[in-house]
Amino acid sequence: MSEAAKIQDTLKNKSHKKLIIVLIIIGVIIVLFFAFGLSYIKRHFIEKEVDLSAALDIRSVDLDSIKKDNRILVVSFTYAENAKLIDNVDAVSGASLMVDHHDELQGDRIIGNCELLSSMIGSSVGECDYCSIITEKTYPDTYSGTVAEAKKEFDNDEDVKLRSEIPDLSKYDTVFIIYPVWWGTIPKAVETFVEQAEFRHDDKDPQYVFAVVSHGGSGKAESVSGLEKAAGIKLSAPVLEVFDDDTTEAKDVVYKWLKKISETKPSPV
Ligand SMILES: Cc1cc2nc3c(=O)[nH]c(=O)nc-3n(C[C@H](O)[C@H](O)[C@H](O)COP(=O)(O)O)c2cc1C
Repeated sequence: MSEAAKIQDTLKNKSHKKLIIVLIIIGVIIVLFFAFGLSYIKRHFIEKEVDLSAALDIRSVDLDSIKKDNRILVVSFTYAENAKLIDNVDAVSGASLMVDHHDELQGDRIIGNCELLSSMIGSSVGECDYCSIITEKTYPDTYSGTVAEAKKEFDNDEDVKLRSEIPDLSKYDTVFIIYPVWWGTIPKAVETFVEQAEFRHDDKDPQYVFAVVSHGGSGKAESVSGLEKAAGIKLSAPVLEVFDDDTTEAKDVVYKWLKKISETKPSPV
């Protein structure tokens, strides 16, 4: 082989290697995009719509075995009720927020995942009281801003104050707590609520407490131990975990979970 042919061959091999490296890099970028980027984009920029009447068209479950006189309380904490959100609901986006465009009377409204899950529970079990955990502070109107604010709360072990009152829990036989996972555990506002709430530890008049965990992929993470520790209770049954993107379609899993509770003997707190 001539000297010129050898040089040409070496250059060819080098450009082949470069092409392979570039293709590998592009492949890695595509895999990373589908693994993380897509969910980031969905979480931050894509508006999710919900038809409330369809989402809440859930089968009834009778909780007679664990309640007397319809004494059920459904407590929830949701970002949408605790943030200063813009008035233009069409501009709202993020996996934590849904817009109901279907209410002809009230017009469009923004709904949080935990708020929708608590309405599903209420619609299934029938008569119940609702309680929203509302903080004194208002969270930022962006997902990333709220993530940063929550990080500060955990880093500083902040005592997040509530504007909403703590209901008298002794009136209720059954309490449902619906919360989002924040940084792998319960939001500080939920911690404040359950620390101040007085659960009923009475063998003669048992109280049952259940929880639904809304999350963006981590599952319940450390939130159940966080909740039980702050509340000083043991939950009456395993929690229901709902992935945030599945919330609008969650009525069947909520129904099945409630049905199981009604058929098995849950443990009082
Ligand atoms: C401050 C903050 C922290 C979050 N941390 C987690 C997390 O650690 N793991 C997870 O899976 N999802 C996390 N998420 C996503 C929420 O748990 C999820 O979107 C949930 O459905 C929100 O419910 P909401 O709309 O009722 O507030 C976080 C969301 C926020 C705003």
